[in-house]
Amino acid sequence: MNYRSSLLVLLIVVVFVPRVAAADEVDPYVAKSRALVATFGSQLQAELKQSLGEGGPVAAIAVCKDRAPQIASALSRSGGVKLRRTSLRYRNPLNAPEPWEARVLRAFEEQRHESPAMPLEYLSRLEDGTIRYMSAIKTGPVCLVCHGDNLVDEISEQLDADYPHDRARGYAQGDIRGAFSVTWSSTNARSQ
Ligand code: HEC
Repeated sequence: MNYRSSLLVLLIVVVFVPRVAAADEVDPYVAKSRALVATFGSQLQAELKQSLGEGGPVAAIAVCKDRAPQIASALSRSGGVKLRRTSLRYRNPLNAPEPWEARVLRAFEEQRHESPAMPLEYLSRLEDGTIRYMSAIKTGPVCLVCHGDNLVDEISEQLDADYPHDRARGYAQGDIRGAFSVTWSSTNARSQ
């Protein structure tokens, strides 16, 4: 590891959020970000599950394609934040990480290998008052239907049609599929 990347990892590890802290010790922005991310995750999972059950996996692709960004923007508006999903190996180029998000995602990957018990969560405050939060999204069994190695033909054909540059296949259970990212702009951070 060269000097620059070890410094970066150090910086990021220092601001990793301790998961065991008592509720009243948690930074309010961590608490608020966790709540937003939990709502996003559970709404999406519920719609995905329903669609997988009712219409099958090809129909469920539409939930990820259309509903995920809609839920994210509705929550972003109501929460006064920018909330999104991102990944180093993304399916939709609109989800490509910004440089700071890519740095955090790479630090999550290193952290997962070096000390798997560390929580994969990140918070930073910029000098201008902007607050940035990220938490990793692990690959669960259901995710493999569309992000795993051996996709059934009808899924891979639909994904090929919708995402000609798809990079989000070949994941295994437990891999970091990506992350939720929350940005509180300096004005919103001050008025909350
Ligand atoms: C039915 C197919 C399907 C299933 C099942 C599925 N996804 Fe996806 N996933 C997609 C599609 C399609 C996109 C692209 C969405 C878009 O256009 O924004 C996507 C995008 C994502 C992204 C955003 C980054 C990117 O690659 O563009 C993340 C993170 C993600 N999925 C995580 C998961 C996780 C975690 C699971 C399991 C809980 C899961 N997905 C299950 C189809 C699926």
